[in-house]
Amino acid sequence: MTTTNDAAVSTEGTKKAPPAVRLENVTKEFKGMVAVDDLTLELAAGEFFALLGPSGCGKTTTLRMVGGFEQPSSGKIFLGGEDITWTPPYRRDVNTVFQSYALFPHLSVFDNVAFGLRRKGKDKDDIKRLVEEHLEILGLGASDHDRRRNCQAASNSAWPWRVRW
Ligand SMILES: Nc1ncnc2c1ncn2[C@@H]1O[C@H](COP(=O)(O)OP(=O)(O)O)[C@@H](O)[C@H]1O
Ligand SMILES: [Mg+2]
Repeated sequence: MTTTNDAAVSTEGTKKAPPAVRLENVTKEFKGMVAVDDLTLELAAGEFFALLGPSGCGKTTTLRMVGGFEQPSSGKIFLGGEDITWTPPYRRDVNTVFQSYALFPHLSVFDNVAFGLRRKGKDKDDIKRLVEEHLEILGLGASDHDRRRNCQAASNSAWPWRVRW
């Protein structure tokens, strides 16, 4: 999973966009135990990427470092080319969907998806468009999302809301 994209200028001389996420030689130790060992990887914008591995291999620790909930013992993390290794979680444009307790049970499906967009102060029409687009991707496009429904059942079931990492 080691890639190098440091040549930020293509052969035509045009500037290439930096990767959306870049981990550079990231190592995390907990009291001398190495949880993540010299990990370098890059994700392009819009890329779908899965971290797979046995329990204890460092998946959660890696995601927690990207989210800012752990700091690397060494190495750097970049978002869109900006070094955010020491940026606190609330100042990073990163969202984490936890394995459980991922939904607000008192909100409709639509309002759960819209929550972050509203927090960011997005325009009402943009929110509607983005929510519908993403529900469509999740295969939930045709349902009645405006109806206030209890999402607890969905959050307790294995699909589609539970994401394991
Ligand atoms: N806060 C912590 N303190 C000490 N050890 C930890 C901590 N978090 C994770 N670990 C250890 O780091 C290793 C990787 O854990 P983790 O990232 O949770 O793996 P995974 O998500 O791949 O199952 C494991 O050995 C785990 O026990
Ligand atoms: Mg885990």
